[in-house]
Amino acid sequence: MSTVLAIHASPRGDRSHSRRLAEVFLSAWQARHPQSKLTRREVGRALIPPVNEAFVAAAFYPEPDARPLSMQADLALSDTLVEELLGHDVLVISTPMHNFSVPSGLKAWIDQIVRLGLTFNHTLDNGIAQYEPLVQGKKALIVTSRGGFGFGPGGELEAMNHADTLLRTALGFIGITDVTVIAVEGEESEARTFEVSAAEAEQRLLALAREF
Ligand SMILES: Cc1cc2nc3c(=O)[nH]c(=O)nc-3n(C[C@H](O)[C@H](O)[C@H](O)COP(=O)(O)O)c2cc1C
Repeated sequence: MSTVLAIHASPRGDRSHSRRLAEVFLSAWQARHPQSKLTRREVGRALIPPVNEAFVAAAFYPEPDARPLSMQADLALSDTLVEELLGHDVLVISTPMHNFSVPSGLKAWIDQIVRLGLTFNHTLDNGIAQYEPLVQGKKALIVTSRGGFGFGPGGELEAMNHADTLLRTALGFIGITDVTVIAVEGEESEARTFEVSAAEAEQRLLALAREF
């Protein structure tokens, strides 16, 4: 039975389109799997601390099993977030596009879960860094809302979309390569444009809830 970890990244609450659309998927999925586990992690309206010097020193400490207690404390939240990620089969990320990328809270979450020795490994091959993903058997659904129009595959603004590429790259780096993106676009266009986009996204999310 699948378990779902839902990451919510919009700073908006009830007015958030990405949150509302994610709920279309989550409630349909829950209705089909009433016994399944759904865990939520707030990263848009709760502070996920940015990486600081203490974090870097602790995360890349050469002897991870002998980290001083103070370093273990510096990694406590990161350990929790990694454990949470590893403890679920499906990752659902709801996020707006913010300045062509993701909100800083979601970026901070990524920085906390991309962890040497836990979600990826690093070796040297003839002196050149090689990276190995450590996460297996998971898939991700990204539900995103954008004010503009044309950021999707083949769209006029595709090259400016650093949100989907960041998420796909970072998730792929740790081993989550089965990633589906459902986007609603045009919140800043006339209402009809957005309504059509949202209706299409909802249909696709309902279909995915039957597959996941
Ligand atoms: C700080 C900020 C930056 C934004 N940057 C972009 C952007 O780069 N491209 C875009 O299409 N929309 C941008 N928008 C609009 C949001 O993507 C849009 O309002 C989206 O629907 C918000 O999602 P939400 O309702 O889940 O919060 C931005 C909005 C904010 C508040």
